[in-house]
Amino acid sequence: MDGSSVAADLGSVRGLDKNPADVEHGNEMSEWTAILDDLTAYLRWRQESGVRSEELDPETLKAFMSGTPAGRSPARGPAPETAALRSARVEAPVAGVLSRQRAAEQAAAAEVPASNPADSPEARQAVLAEVAQKVTACRLCALCEKRIQAVPGQGNATSPDILFIGEAPGADEDVQGLAFVGAAGQLLTKMISAMGYTRDEVFIANVCKCRPPNNRPPSLEEMQACLPYLRAQIAAIRPRTIVALGATAVKGLLDSNAGISKLRGTWTAYAGLPLMPTYHPAYLLRYPPAKRDSWDDLRKVLQRLGKPVPEKKAAGG
Ligand code: URA
Repeated sequence: MDGSSVAADLGSVRGLDKNPADVEHGNEMSEWTAILDDLTAYLRWRQESGVRSEELDPETLKAFMSGTPAGRSPARGPAPETAALRSARVEAPVAGVLSRQRAAEQAAAAEVPASNPADSPEARQAVLAEVAQKVTACRLCALCEKRIQAVPGQGNATSPDILFIGEAPGADEDVQGLAFVGAAGQLLTKMISAMGYTRDEVFIANVCKCRPPNNRPPSLEEMQACLPYLRAQIAAIRPRTIVALGATAVKGLLDSNAGISKLRGTWTAYAGLPLMPTYHPAYLLRYPPAKRDSWDDLRKVLQRLGKPVPEKKAAGG
């Protein structure tokens, strides 16, 4: 981090106490208080998402300050601030530099009603269909320019035992509009079947819903722009466990730079659900000896689910 940026340690986010002097300063101070409340809520949201530190660059600070009382001339009075803008600042998954306007657009575009675990299968399907429709129309990042089809994800929407999450669609997925249907998908199918499930019994999705050009890994910003869709899907389907496939997916979900070989095999959490990181099937195709480790990870998932744990063998043969 250079001297022009500010890092907030999210390990110690606390409410920013209101100063009694606010009352004397009238409206301006209550505006400040509201802004600080928003900031506290935003940092808390990031902390709950597993982020341990937040780096703000000068552009972000400028955007933030332009909405503060100090950033305006008192003669002009309060700048208009809609509820959408305010909630966007709190709820949008800000990826590095997102202007408040962009954050508002993003929050509005990705806003999908939360599903209640008691919802009927039909209600959950309806939420998923709404997410899929928004994904299909999404223009929040440049990946929309080159996609043939967006790939929302598919499978069992009613509390499946497992939600598998990859990084982004490849060429086959882009053509078919379905997650994991190419070579890596075929190995994933074998892994799922070795666990005792069919593809229809689990849910399969990606962090990023559009194919990056030349199958490059999606950037952190692209993944963060897309995450509200995945979170809406998770809220609707309420999987019992999540398996994150590969380093890029784990980075997108957990904002962690730790290597997948370090993270795999150890339970962590995402959106309040147990998450097991493991290798991506494309990596297993390139380096088959790693299948043994991957199978160990999947056996831990079965154990947690209280399912029969098959003998030790490499997943997918
Ligand atoms: N790789 C992924 O991460 N996801 C897919 O859907 C296909 C390949």
